[in-house]
Amino acid sequence: MRTHLLAVALAIILPTFSAHAQDAAAGEKVFTACKACHALGKNSVGPNLVGVVGRKAASYEGYNYSTALKESGITWDEANLKEWLTGPAANKVKGTKMVYQGLKDDKKVADVIAYLATLK
Ligand code: HEC
Repeated sequence: MRTHLLAVALAIILPTFSAHAQDAAAGEKVFTACKACHALGKNSVGPNLVGVVGRKAASYEGYNYSTALKESGITWDEANLKEWLTGPAANKVKGTKMVYQGLKDDKKVADVIAYLATLK
């Protein structure tokens, strides 16, 4: 009985887990485009993105953010990141200095967010 329950539990958990791993791996490739401006672990043209998921916008120390982003009041959860990454200025924060047209493919957006979530 116990073994059976474990098998059922694994059958539910494992596919979800591997789908996630795959998304993050695909997202790492999408992130190549972001690397033009974002370095990991330090500020560059754009701010450091390690730990950005769940962080308050414009809060990474030592980076000179735009006033628009500082005043946005956003916390970078999945929904906000989704809007931001499809067009930072057009869809989310007018006046941001992230001059990037945005990702047009929903899967790429989801994948790159999954990848960002692995950066701790
Ligand atoms: C052309 C340069 C450029 C590219 C390309 C770029 N960014 Fe940015 N990014 C910036 C700048 C500059 C900021 C700071 C914006 C501000 O202060 O208004 C920023 C800010 C951000 C923030 C908010 C960080 C915080 O601390 O509030 C996130 C999240 C982000 N970028 C993700 C990405 C992702 C993911 C990609 C790739 C899909 C990407 N960026 C591509 C320049 C860029």
